[in-house]
Amino acid sequence: MIKRPSKRSVLITLLIVFVAIQMKTTDKTPIKITPESDFLTLEEAPPDVTKLIQSVCYDCHSNLTQYPWYSHVAPVSWWLEGHINKGKSKVNFSIWDTYTPAQKDALKNESAELIEKKWMPILTYKITHADARLTETQRRMLIDWLKE
Ligand code: HEC
Repeated sequence: MIKRPSKRSVLITLLIVFVAIQMKTTDKTPIKITPESDFLTLEEAPPDVTKLIQSVCYDCHSNLTQYPWYSHVAPVSWWLEGHINKGKSKVNFSIWDTYTPAQKDALKNESAELIEKKWMPILTYKITHADARLTETQRRMLIDWLKE
């Protein structure tokens, strides 16, 4: 008969696995930013829009990601890194000067649309970032500015 592992040995195994996966860290080296390349600077966003977009979009769509403590803990760190990489591959507001006028237009329209539909910022982000749960007024302000 096969012996069932004890609760204790299961817990110890899980603990070892948890410690072991911490070895695979994610790269959080700060990326040098140039303010002249920034979306909000180049598009001359007013201060209230700047502040809001920086706090609700820039963690995933810029080189100015602010990493919370749990972003250093695997496997959460891997999952967050996936979001950030995917988000930045779609639009990175820190390198706005590298997009063509047509791309800029498309990205601004898409941003307005995604905010309208409440798809951006993404749901899981809103759970951990209370300030990212936009009010109707905030949503309107961003959409109106993006569509200007
Ligand atoms: C927690 C991370 C996160 C935050 C915060 C976030 N995004 Fe995103 N964004 C993503 C990810 C991930 C994708 C890629 C979605 C996909 O294709 O599955 C994306 C995609 C996009 C796209 C491109 C859509 C496409 O398919 O071309 C735009 C535009 C965008 N986001 C704008 C915004 C704006 C504007 C904000 C702030 C209001 C914001 N995002 C906040 C993660 C985020």
